Amino acid sequence: MSVTVVNHPLVQHKLTIMRNKETSTAGFRRLLREISLLLGYEVTRDLELTTTRIETPLQPMDAPTLEGKKLVFASVLRAGNGLLEGLLDLVPAARVAHVGLYRDHDTLEAVEYFFKAPSDLGDRLVIVVDPMLATANSAIAAIDKLKSRGATNLRFLCLLAAPEGIERFTKAHPDVPVFTAAIDEKLNEKGYIVPGLGDAGDRMYGTK
Ligand code: PRP
Ligand code: URA
Repeated sequence: MSVTVVNHPLVQHKLTIMRNKETSTAGFRRLLREISLLLGYEVTRDLELTTTRIETPLQPMDAPTLEGKKLVFASVLRAGNGLLEGLLDLVPAARVAHVGLYRDHDTLEAVEYFFKAPSDLGDRLVIVVDPMLATANSAIAAIDKLKSRGATNLRFLCLLAAPEGIERFTKAHPDVPVFTAAIDEKLNEKGYIVPGLGDAGDRMYGTK
């Protein structure tokens, strides 16, 4: 089990602006995209490299390139798309999976409404992205589904996590490393992360 908190000063500064309820929908979206670049740097830090023979204008060289098949970003809809866009700027050749899940407001269970992924998940690193890990019901369901479709090498990237969510997630999927910008105090009685930033999807898309 591995949990990495990305405490880079730029990440923390941007996260504070995102938490602020006065931040606009446009500002929230822009900041999430900016943070995704910094989180993406961390989550891909140890990707394996091979070399390829190229010729610079001066001489041939064996230069580093990423090893293996293109990785997959799996976005947990809707809010995962806020991280996905920046990550695709970092790794433009990545494949994309979409996992449509919403949290039932009464039971807090994750309800699946869409799934589309590359067929060869078992051959690829799959980085699952969703800004919020609250009860972890959504993240656990997303990973269950991806594993049932063959994925074996997974990571989970979020922006904010609750301690309760981290505990449940790492018990359910101890083989999946978690990367987050912060672990907050707790969940409130409605299953929201506090202090948190509110409902990530609503803040991204102005749907409240
Ligand atoms: C939010 C968030 C996660 C989930 C986290 O999505 O983006 O997917 O809640 O909560 P959990 O850990 O308790 O499952 P939501 O269900 O609000 O859907 P949305 O992204 O479409 O707004
Ligand atoms: N989903 C969110 O978007 N925010 C929370 O605080 C919990 C779940």
